[in-house]
Amino acid sequence: MTDAHELSAAQLHQMNRAAWNEAARAYETALADTIAFLRAGGVNFCAPELPYLENLATWCRRAIHLQCAGGRDTLSLWNHGAAEVVGIDISERMIAAARHAAQAIGARAQWFCCDILEAPHALDGSADLVYTGRGALCWIMDITQWAQVVARLLKPGGVLYVFEGHPLDWVWDPHAATLQIDAHPPYGDYFAQALDHSTGWPESYIPATAVLPVEQQSVKHEHQWTLGQIINSFIAAGLVVVQFEEHPDQFWDQLPLLPAEIARRLPHTFSLLMRKPTEQP
Ligand SMILES: C[S@@+](CC[C@H](N)C(=O)[O-])C[C@H]1O[C@@H](n2cnc3c(N)ncnc32)[C@H](O)[C@@H]1O
Repeated sequence: MTDAHELSAAQLHQMNRAAWNEAARAYETALADTIAFLRAGGVNFCAPELPYLENLATWCRRAIHLQCAGGRDTLSLWNHGAAEVVGIDISERMIAAARHAAQAIGARAQWFCCDILEAPHALDGSADLVYTGRGALCWIMDITQWAQVVARLLKPGGVLYVFEGHPLDWVWDPHAATLQIDAHPPYGDYFAQALDHSTGWPESYIPATAVLPVEQQSVKHEHQWTLGQIINSFIAAGLVVVQFEEHPDQFWDQLPLLPAEIARRLPHTFSLLMRKPTEQP
């Protein structure tokens, strides 16, 4: 077997594509519910995201959602006022589900199935908003290139909004029931940079019944990025920081045994708002 360290970011992303096509079954199973939710005008955002996504109808002609999965969040941007939404994801099964949902609700939407690093140049300079997060960055093996893609998709003056899992969450043991420094067995180091190679999904996200038995699953690769690496990758791509905030809110149940009032003493998510300057230096 090839050592994953000898593979390029593009090759590792293609391996992840196989794993996400398997996990897409959970999204397909939820599709009828997603369509009903969106038809009823639902918006799938967490509370901390809402102040960053206010009044989209007045300023957002095109929102591009990177790593859009089954389109529930992308189409929430449309329900929330964006005039047109564009979703990009590497998994063809995710994109098929997203397209189906958009047709069902009559949304003005375009979908592209490709590696984010190969986002179509036809979209360059067209986004008022690039939106991403909630379990997106860890699947990207080259954050410098990824930030450059964001910068080229944005219009001058356009904004990037990232709502993502706080990287400190890589450290905590997901089975801990008390707040003590019980480091996560395979990670446990905020500054660790080795890739994680795994099969299996957290039960609270992709139930075992929705995927192949673990020994038949495709190997997936994840990279732990620190806050500094994330923010600096965008600064290097020419964006400027507008606001950065850390939140105690979780967007999935990653610490199921820790009582909520204890979990809220830690940061679990962050918001990062950045702008592409109207005049490039
Ligand atoms: C955790 S899901 C995102 C979930 C989404 N935020 C949501 O709440 O539904 C991660 C998504 O990233 C996609 N993905 C992973 N690597 C990618 C890449 N290199 N390019 C494009 N999409 C990718 C996967 O196919 C998957 O749909």
